Amino acid sequence: MIYLVTKAAVGLVLPPKLRDLSRESVLITGGGRGIGRHLAREFAERGARKIVLWGRTEKCLKETTEEIRQMGTECHYFICDVGNREEVYQMAKAVREKVGDITILVNNAAVVHGKSLMDSDDDALLKSQHVNTLGQFWTTKAFLPRMLELQNGHIVCLNSVLALSAIPGAIDYCTSKASAFAFMESLTLGLLDCPGVSATTVLPFHTSTEMFQGMRVRVSQPLPATEARDSSPEDSGSYATKPSPSLAPVDHEYPHYLEKSILPQAALEEIHRFSGTYTCMNTFKGRT
Ligand SMILES: NC(=O)c1ccc[n+]([C@@H]2O[C@H](COP(=O)([O-])OP(=O)(O)OC[C@H]3O[C@@H](n4cnc5c(N)ncnc54)[C@H](OP(=O)(O)O)[C@@H]3O)[C@@H](O)[C@H]2O)c1
Repeated sequence: MIYLVTKAAVGLVLPPKLRDLSRESVLITGGGRGIGRHLAREFAERGARKIVLWGRTEKCLKETTEEIRQMGTECHYFICDVGNREEVYQMAKAVREKVGDITILVNNAAVVHGKSLMDSDDDALLKSQHVNTLGQFWTTKAFLPRMLELQNGHIVCLNSVLALSAIPGAIDYCTSKASAFAFMESLTLGLLDCPGVSATTVLPFHTSTEMFQGMRVRVSQPLPATEARDSSPEDSGSYATKPSPSLAPVDHEYPHYLEKSILPQAALEEIHRFSGTYTCMNTFKGRT
């Protein structure tokens, strides 16, 4: 235990050992824009063999695919709504036939409606659960069996700090992310005896893509899970921060666990008021 805790603590400060991606084929859901688009670029820069992008909007998928191809990496896109189980299985089959085996699956696609429970349309509430949570069930079920056969695979979930610390005004999103967090915890433990196959959960803080446009938080998180960079004018995605290249593991969010385990509810509520997370969605005008 002491060894493992020390190793994890050292791992928080030392740069991680980067994995060789030259034989990996990566599929990113919601890869056409936002964080997904950035990840596609990052995987291409780091030498991934093939990249596959899934999403609903052809225009941005096409643009990102062209950009990745210009970087010298084989890239394909497929129109696929991850909330639609049959479509996921159908498209997974199409990917296998056209591109081959996927060895890294990045479950990144998500939507947010940005409303309280009573203001939310029932269908909108259902949609977030279908896309943000159940979508990961279907994509993982579609690609994991082959990873297990190959004894080579990695499932990555782009989750959110809101999985651990919910805010008002995004009840659909927080619920779906908390559920996806439990899904990944269970999956990760279930893979312990599966050589060559593992899973990572990433919990980014507020990232200025279109998703949470308008949302305002006064105080940032204590330990950044994302690193900031200025968005360049040629970026058609509007984000100004990017996930750390190592895909920061869940360990970076220990402060959230700690504060929730130690502090009384009244103190947690005060933190929400002070940090601005209590009212941050009042100015929300993101896109779903
Ligand atoms: N932005 C933040 O502040 C923030 C913070 C923490 C975590 N995250 C997480 O990071 C991930 C990426 O978010 P982002 O900021 O890049 O958001 P974004 O710019 O809104 O992008 C969301 C992506 O998901 C895709 N998508 C949405 N519904 C889909 C569906 N049914 N089927 C397939 N693709 C779908 C979208 O593509 P199409 O529209 O083409 O389908 C788009 O590419 C999400 O999981 C989000 O929860 C974001």
